Amino acid sequence: MKKECVLVSGGAGYIGTHTTVELIGAGYDVVIIDNFSNSEMKAVEGVRQITGVEVPFEQVDTCDEAALRRVFEKYDFNSVIHFAAYKAVGESVAEPLKYYRNNLVSFMNICALMREFGRRNILFSSSATVYGEAEVLPVTEQTPRKPATSPYGNTKQMAEDILRDCCAAYDGIRGIALRYFNPIGAHPSALIGELPRGVPQNLVPYITQTAAGIRECLSIFGNDYDTPDGTCLRDYIDVVDLAKAHVAAVGRMTREAMKSDYEIFNIGTGRPVSVLELVEGFEKANSLKLNYKIVDRRAGDVPAVWADTSLANEELGWSADRPLEETLRTSWQWEKHVRGIE
Ligand code: UFG
Repeated sequence: MKKECVLVSGGAGYIGTHTTVELIGAGYDVVIIDNFSNSEMKAVEGVRQITGVEVPFEQVDTCDEAALRRVFEKYDFNSVIHFAAYKAVGESVAEPLKYYRNNLVSFMNICALMREFGRRNILFSSSATVYGEAEVLPVTEQTPRKPATSPYGNTKQMAEDILRDCCAAYDGIRGIALRYFNPIGAHPSALIGELPRGVPQNLVPYITQTAAGIRECLSIFGNDYDTPDGTCLRDYIDVVDLAKAHVAAVGRMTREAMKSDYEIFNIGTGRPVSVLELVEGFEKANSLKLNYKIVDRRAGDVPAVWADTSLANEELGWSADRPLEETLRTSWQWEKHVRGIE
């Protein structure tokens, strides 16, 4: 029987590589496209090494409609997972047009070509950022979205709406938006992981770089929040668990099991973890001490957000399984691999 094929845009990125590995493990064919704006060929090679499959790769910018069209002409996929996007919140505030152009033009190109070529399933990588500072926690998919506080966040909301409207208007197009909480960790092989360029903005890469001696000291942004230990609460989801959620969502689409043409799922663990707990968990998991200090709050941080994951658990038959301690071990293994430590 012919295998189902999935196009993965941004497939050389952090979540794209892990998802490709899980898709192949689940029996799918995958075509990766990426423009390497925030990734490199080594990531694709890591995927090929883990899977033992010479996964097809095309260096294509999804904003380039003509180049993207050639991918549609060349490969016979019926589903796309669209990861290709910029994701730095601060940069998006400084350069909004760069974000709106890249994140929205690329997604509209994908949707338009899916329609034109009669391809069916669109999976969009959204974010818990759409919830902003929610009044009731944990957040469910019914929790109202808050006005975005950055152009980056706004592109996630707008792309969700574009997908919803396309699914409503165009016969044969169906979509799922997965709202990720905080993805962390790396593949247990340490052959793929997160590769931030420059100074990391996110907590775990900053932690691992501090442990590796690249950063002198981790700054914890505020310990005077109204939370149990005063530091912010987040829902940290292992990237391999997150990747498996994509496999479950693609399976739901290809099995024709969707209940409506557009669906949304929260993808998290359902457990709130504080910044301090995460730091201490990292120290314990890896038997090391981390240099850290408490500094002022970071502008724009919400005090707490975590997921109600019941819908994904029930409808996708998926749940996050990996214990945090193991995830934090893989984060450190990956950093050591990248830096050639040990
Ligand atoms: N933090 C620190 N020190 C650091 C970095 C982060 O204390 O050096 C804290 C933050 O203040 C926050 C927590 O660690 O409390 C997590 O911060 P991250 O930057 O790792 O993650 P965020 O929750 O801020 O960001 C994530 C995604 C964004 C998304 C955002 C909004 O990375 O893409 O959620 O939901 F926009």
